[in-house]
Amino acid sequence: MSTYKASFAYFRYILAPFSVCYDDASVHIMGLRKKVENSICRLKSYLATKSFCLISALLFLSQSVTGQEVNPLDGDPRAARVGGSIFRAQCATCHGADAKGIDSIDAPDLTLLYTDSGTSDESVFSTIRDGVSGSIMPAHTFPDTEIWMLVSYLRSIGLSGISTEVDGDPVPGELLFSQNCSTCHRKGNQGGALGPNLSRITQVRSLEVLINSVRNPSASIARGYKPVSVITEDNEQVKGVIKREDAFSIQIMDTDQYLRGFSKMSLRGIAYEEQSWMPVFSESELTKQELNNIISFLQSSL
Ligand code: HEC
Ligand code: HEC
Repeated sequence: MSTYKASFAYFRYILAPFSVCYDDASVHIMGLRKKVENSICRLKSYLATKSFCLISALLFLSQSVTGQEVNPLDGDPRAARVGGSIFRAQCATCHGADAKGIDSIDAPDLTLLYTDSGTSDESVFSTIRDGVSGSIMPAHTFPDTEIWMLVSYLRSIGLSGISTEVDGDPVPGELLFSQNCSTCHRKGNQGGALGPNLSRITQVRSLEVLINSVRNPSASIARGYKPVSVITEDNEQVKGVIKREDAFSIQIMDTDQYLRGFSKMSLRGIAYEEQSWMPVFSESELTKQELNNIISFLQSSL
């Protein structure tokens, strides 16, 4: 990437408020309003030119010092914000407005990108620019700066897991997991499927979030596991989590872990529950140390 090209694109981005502002000013030709707006414009223009010089210098430095592709906009919150707008305009049709992916077209959840240790800003940059051959992920001919803004955005929404080792023992943790959790959760190939597979959970959730999911499951319900209960034609009550739903039908994994489909016309009632089917584990049921042991087991390769 040439520094010149990036600086030029950055220049346009920085000056955008200036040109918008000036157009506005020329529309309101009357007296005071014009004066005020013009002085704001001059101020913005002054600040823009200043920051442009500074940023060009930084860009130049970051390029020449490291001599490799690093995100020149790293740490600039505006870059992530503008990147978010570009994302919603250009990428959301496939990856979803929340970037969490759309299963039916195999567009992956991009909030998980950085949980894979092989992912770098540079590799994400290349994927966006070149696309993925043999898939519908297209190449993009945006200026480099806009691609870096997308990278900044994806990094800003990227989930990251527990960065340190948890103070626990995975050996008793394994036993506690099988006693309390594995009827509903899998680690590796073992366990149930009413709740999400926890094999990689410590790579995508912080310690605080994990503890909160166990102490207070209903505070935030995992995607794809929304609780529901329905009453069938024969007055049977079926409780479970919603796997698929459209205007006419609903597919549920019931609490006995059977997949069941219903036509909505045939149901006597549907209640979208607020409470997760996961039981609350308070400290009297699972002490701090026991929970740490479980989390340490989830983190381990046992
Ligand atoms: C037409 C649909 C479509 C559009 C538009 C699209 N993508 Fe993708 N994208 C995909 C699909 C499908 C894949 C999975 C490719 C594969 O690995 O088979 C993918 C993969 C990716 C990956 C690699 C994910 C990984 O796990 O390695 C990134 C990064 C990405 N897209 C970012 C973007 C960004 C940013 C945009 C907008 C500028 C965008 N995509 C636009 C469909 C799309
Ligand atoms: C009766 C079934 C059941 C049991 C037992 C259970 N869970 Fe869950 N769990 C669920 C369901 C269903 C969800 C998804 C809904 C939600 O987020 O509350 C869930 C969600 C979670 C999540 C959030 C996952 C995410 O993607 O954020 C974590 C973490 C979790 N459980 C850990 C545990 C641990 C640890 C235990 C044992 C101490 C346990 N669960 C016991 C059913 C269960």
